[in-house]
Amino acid sequence: MRYVVAAKVADVLPGQMKSFSAEGTKILIANVGGAFFAIQQKCPHMGANLCKGTLVGGVVTCPKHSASFDVESGEALEGPFILFRRLRTKKALTYPVKLEGDSVLIGLWQ
Ligand code: FES
Repeated sequence: MRYVVAAKVADVLPGQMKSFSAEGTKILIANVGGAFFAIQQKCPHMGANLCKGTLVGGVVTCPKHSASFDVESGEALEGPFILFRRLRTKKALTYPVKLEGDSVLIGLWQ
């Protein structure tokens, strides 16, 4: 695994999300009360940009069909809501995060 600098700590305030792209992979960085997490930016359901959704606590909700994901585990907490029904969706990929100085680093599988 190789770690790359994804953001400055000060660029992602508590309760905020930021997009990061590395080697064709788009990743969402979330600051949850000072703890940083990284999860795939594309919704596992139909690929909407999760950065355009909402972050409440450690849960990001997709702007398209309201599926929600735990940013730490990637688990789908609620599936997409379509035609008055909740469907199922896959878990989102997560990435290891570490802090070095004022930088947020994300581990990429190589
Ligand atoms: S694209 Fe995210 S819930 Fe459908």
